[in-house]
Order: sequence, then C-alpha cells, then structure tokens
Amino acid sequence: MSATAEMPYFVRPSQNLPAEEKERAYAQAYAAIAATLTGETNELVVMVTINSVLKTYLPYFYWTGFYLVSGPDRLSVGPYQGTLGCLHIEFGRGVCGTVAASGRAKIVADTHALEEGREHIACDPNSRSEIVLPVRRPDGSLLGVFDVDSTECDSFDAVDQRWLEKILSIFSDPVLPLRATWAAPAVSR
Ligand code: SME
Repeated sequence: MSATAEMPYFVRPSQNLPAEEKERAYAQAYAAIAATLTGETNELVVMVTINSVLKTYLPYFYWTGFYLVSGPDRLSVGPYQGTLGCLHIEFGRGVCGTVAASGRAKIVADTHALEEGREHIACDPNSRSEIVLPVRRPDGSLLGVFDVDSTECDSFDAVDQRWLEKILSIFSDPVLPLRATWAAPAVSR
C-alpha cells in the first residue's frame, strides 16, 4: 500500500470523539457486549463479537483486532475487522510486540513519529494513532494483545484504556470457563 492508501469501500476514515461522547459510546458498547456474551464460553466467539460491537459504536476504530501468542516471543494475527493485518509480529517489535514483551498497555498519539519497522509496524499506511493492550488468561499468562488503529492522530486516551481494560477482563475472569485455546471452542463442563 502506498503512503496513504485508498480505503476499501467497507472502511471509513476515523472520526475522533470528545471524552463525553466516548463515555456514552463505550457504555452502550459494553452493554451490548455483556448482553450478547453472557454465558458464552467460546473464546473465538467472544473475540469476533468484541471486534464487531466496538467497531460499530466507536467511529474512530479503523482497525480492531487481536494478535495472539503463537509461540515463544511470537504473535500471530487473530480475529479482526479492517484492512489487511500483518500476519506475525515478534515480541519487542512494533507497538503490539512491545506490549506483548512489557505486558503494559501503550497509547500512540502519532504513529508517524515512531521508527518504522522497530517501534511501529505499518500494516496500513492510513493508520495514524493506536492503542494496544495486553489480554490475559485467568492464570495471568498472556493470551495476546488487543490492537486498535485510527486514521486520525490523538484518537486514544485514558478513557479508551479504562473501558477496553474493563471489556478485555472477560478473558481473565476466573468465573467464565474460557480455558481452551482460541483455536478450539471451549467445552462447557
Ligand atoms: N501497527 C501495529 C501492527 C499491527 S497493525 O496495526 C494491524 C504495530 O506496530 O505493532
């Protein structure tokens, strides 16, 4: 893809939201996710539903999806919505690899300010800001990371981090039997 690429018909450029509108949109998204997923035990179903609902309610979510641990120090693309995602990312590389290695969430105000290839990996040149959060299992081990890109600078802040941590806590919830690997649907005991 060239420096800025034409967007496919199914993707729209991001529209940033002020904090107040963000709170409202997240509250609606959270209610929809909770209503849809109550009792759900299949990790894959949970991931695709989170992607779809968040992309529906948050107009700056351009690329929304999961990178999952696929080997020692390696992430591979999981369920996502948006333009073509990079397939594999090593721990320590890009924003996703950095979060996987540190275990701490990261907000990037302007991806073009990062060193391409090391600090940031441009799967889509239209991406201008980003938030990446770790996703953990009940035992604390890293399941992967959740990555959201926007085509605008400065789309993400503490409001996004708080709500996304709340939504992603579903994976580390000891109550839900989400124990199986994402590839195999969980078997409810
Ligand atoms: N930009 C990410 C790579 C994934 S794409 O955004 C989907 C990164 O630097 O890690």
